Amino acid sequence: MPRFKTRREHSADGQWRDWPEFTNTDEPEGTSQSPEIQNISQENAGFHEHDLDESETELPTARRQKSKKLASNSKKPLMRPVTTKLPLTDKCLHFDDISEVPGDLQKYYHQRYSIFRYYDYDVRLTHDAWFGVTPEPVAIQVAQDISSSLFSTPLKDTIVDLFGGAGGNSIAFALSEKWSRVIAIEKDTDTLACAMHNAEVYGVQDYITFIHGDCLDFLDRLKTATETLDDSLRLDPQSTMLFASPPWGGVNYRDQDVFDLSTMEPYNLEVLHQACKPMEHALYLPRTSDLRQIAKLVPDGTKIDVRQYCMEGASKALVAFLPASFD
Ligand SMILES: C[S@@+](CC[C@H](N)C(=O)[O-])C[C@H]1O[C@@H](n2cnc3c(N)ncnc32)[C@H](O)[C@@H]1O
Repeated sequence: MPRFKTRREHSADGQWRDWPEFTNTDEPEGTSQSPEIQNISQENAGFHEHDLDESETELPTARRQKSKKLASNSKKPLMRPVTTKLPLTDKCLHFDDISEVPGDLQKYYHQRYSIFRYYDYDVRLTHDAWFGVTPEPVAIQVAQDISSSLFSTPLKDTIVDLFGGAGGNSIAFALSEKWSRVIAIEKDTDTLACAMHNAEVYGVQDYITFIHGDCLDFLDRLKTATETLDDSLRLDPQSTMLFASPPWGGVNYRDQDVFDLSTMEPYNLEVLHQACKPMEHALYLPRTSDLRQIAKLVPDGTKIDVRQYCMEGASKALVAFLPASFD
């Protein structure tokens, strides 16, 4: 079973902090990597077999793993915020008239002012974002509920919108003025360009730190390789809240009375929870999600909050509010 324990480190601001540390107890000693990978790791980390005494040629597992980690980290480019606005592309769509709208988006175009109240001020959405964006009234309510439902002290001052999309939730977090920092991560360039632009439409572009990248990679770096993150992104897990509105791909959730979250693609519930669990997190999931699967994420007897978000009497999604855990 993968496990987290805490590692105490002195951080740049002079405080001691407990950082979650990942150990995978499933892996029997010495079986974790192929010989080729071991050789590459040792090379990159500056170990050469001929430099070692005979007694040292078999490196202890921990040392091999450390050298492998150092070697792979040293290859990772630094993850840093995007500092200049990305240009809009022809995939960043804005329609002025229904006649311009492709058939599969027309239903969403009719709801454009529920999606973004300031739609007419040139809000942009990619084709996928038209389907996936969180409608503004829901995003505003979620932002309010998250800031009032935090589990532990110290109070959180940073929120990371892991699947930033076109900015629906990040903009609402920034507008709520509850956070000193809002960080939005998005891996698709065109969608990120839309989000930066939409943040400008709402006047909150200076309150959101945008990252162009993979949020799971970001969380992994935060756990195991903070040196590969820009200083400004080395977040304190105790004062950080995560929000995840992942794609709801896989078997169409609308076709199921109860949506099996283990089938959600590309990231199922287990993958998301494993990645997020060192920090408090809120998961934005299909309204029909199987609540028993969500309940199993926390120890027996632990109560968690799950809220449905409705517009005009119909649920759009639910949000599960989950505490941090290290086991
Ligand atoms: C459902 S949408 C999020 C919508 C967003 N909450 C909004 O209101 O605009 C999911 C987004 O996650 C992005 N995404 C998917 N996998 C990702 C990953 N590993 N890291 C970062 N972004 C990812 C997709 O490109 C998509 O834009």
